[in-house]
Amino acid sequence: MSWMRNYKYRWYETLAMNILKMGPLPKHIAFIMDGNRRFAKHSQIQKIDGHSKGFDKLTECLQWCLSMEIKEVTVFAFSIENFKRTQDEVDDLLRLAKEKFDKLLEEEKVLCENGVRIRIFGDLLLLPKDLQNVIAKAMLITEQNDKLFLNIAFAYTSHNEITTSIQEVIEDHGDLKKEDINEYLISKCLYMNSSPDPDLLIRTSGESRISDFLMWQLSSTVLYFTRALWPQLTLMDFLFGIFSYQLKKIQLTSLKTAIKTNSQNQNEICEDKSSLNQSNQYLSDRVYNFLRHVDIRRRHLLLDLTSSKKDDI
Ligand code: FPP
Ligand code: MG
Repeated sequence: MSWMRNYKYRWYETLAMNILKMGPLPKHIAFIMDGNRRFAKHSQIQKIDGHSKGFDKLTECLQWCLSMEIKEVTVFAFSIENFKRTQDEVDDLLRLAKEKFDKLLEEEKVLCENGVRIRIFGDLLLLPKDLQNVIAKAMLITEQNDKLFLNIAFAYTSHNEITTSIQEVIEDHGDLKKEDINEYLISKCLYMNSSPDPDLLIRTSGESRISDFLMWQLSSTVLYFTRALWPQLTLMDFLFGIFSYQLKKIQLTSLKTAIKTNSQNQNEICEDKSSLNQSNQYLSDRVYNFLRHVDIRRRHLLLDLTSSKKDDI
């Protein structure tokens, strides 16, 4: 199954989409794709075929997001906790991911034509070398695209992400001072980096938990839980999620304004250099140099992973 596919909308689906487009739309949606194994059990197929159907649903969902002009999608594909599943299931899932990322590399041209940028959020070093290699390539070949950001959390948990970012601050601190470490700096060290936080999180399968996913980034996100198992998610379920976002948007706007005022004060220190006095200017340079260093180090890691020797793989 290709990463980019052509979903044929029925007339009432187009109508529902056009009506929703008249209201405020989320710019960034996150998905917890849950329920693949229960789907497999109900359909009397192998677990891995349930996960494979889950991948097909992801590609369908990307088309819906493109049609709804949603610019960023973040999906939870593999938690660090998932390594505790049976070895057979873990191996199957990692093999499936390798197969899909190989396919993605083959489809570079169509992804670039559609402006899709792929980013993998997670502790890549926990993965097998061949998977690290294709993931790094997928990130590098799409890094100039900016029409649709697809972030795939793989070997990810929020606890791990936050711990890693603190380790990065300590390792690369350079001239950083204690007072430079604020919410702005920490969020710049997280995988999402300069992306806006998700406006809407959709979790399937009837579970209403966050499961250690984007816990820093979901502070003012609308949460939508649906009973549909991930492979069974329909366009109408998805649109109900967006409708629920629109209903809550008015309450959310006032909450976000309050949070923004707080973090904006910190951002301005780092971003509006022209209005800074001498001592803040110095502070800004320290932060700027540190963040540049973090970016360069991450890019070098990707380049290293793409050039892993065949023997390592
Ligand atoms: C959760 O359902 C799903 C997963 C742990 C795997 C999700 C993976 C995919 C959809 C494939 C994605 C692949 C790429 C390359 C992005 P579950 O296993 O927890 O099912 P259950 O809740 O019914 O037990
Ligand atoms: Mg589950």
